[in-house]
Amino acid sequence: MVLAVPYNQIKDIVLEYASGLDGKIVVDISNPVDVTDFDRLVTPPGTSSGEQTAELLAGAATVVKAFNTVFAATLVTGHIAGEPLDVFLAGDSEDAKTTISQLVAASGLRPIDVGPLHRSRELEAIMLLVMGLQVGEAHPRFNWDTALKILP
Ligand SMILES: NC(=O)c1ccc[n+]([C@@H]2O[C@H](COP(=O)([O-])OP(=O)(O)OC[C@H]3O[C@@H](n4cnc5c(N)ncnc54)[C@H](OP(=O)(O)O)[C@@H]3O)[C@@H](O)[C@H]2O)c1
Repeated sequence: MVLAVPYNQIKDIVLEYASGLDGKIVVDISNPVDVTDFDRLVTPPGTSSGEQTAELLAGAATVVKAFNTVFAATLVTGHIAGEPLDVFLAGDSEDAKTTISQLVAASGLRPIDVGPLHRSRELEAIMLLVMGLQVGEAHPRFNWDTALKILP
């Protein structure tokens, strides 16, 4: 199940649908960025949306943080500058990450496992930087079609 909802809605939705999520993989794609000024994360210090979602699920479902570094338009095309998009994944279950990585690869994208679920903090924090650049004026070529990609 992909949680494709705003960060501030996740808690209510997970609690409402918790019983139907037993045994499932829940993919948290959220970027908990304060979009009023793109200057801070709205998560409490020392945690992340990915970890908070896992806490809410209390082990009933497995959380994989993924897809938060790719934006809708580039996800449709699947590539950036002639290269497959990178999809970074974090999670504590190797099996769940393998499943999501296979889904990513089957879509022609490149899965990159960045480690345990607490790496969600870095995946979310880097998007604070990227989104700030996308909406800023310093780099006119950075926009919502910009993607985070490690080369080669
Ligand atoms: N857009 C991107 O390119 C992108 C990229 C990376 C990560 N993300 C992350 O993906 C998530 C969704 O982003 P978005 O741009 O798609 O946001 P969005 O356009 O605001 O869409 C939010 C979706 O969530 C639904 N929703 C909101 N509150 C809900 C609730 N209480 N119960 C059920 N559904 C609810 C909305 O349904 P209704 O329309 O029916 O209200 C809508 O379909 C966010 O966490 C964002 O950070 C987005």
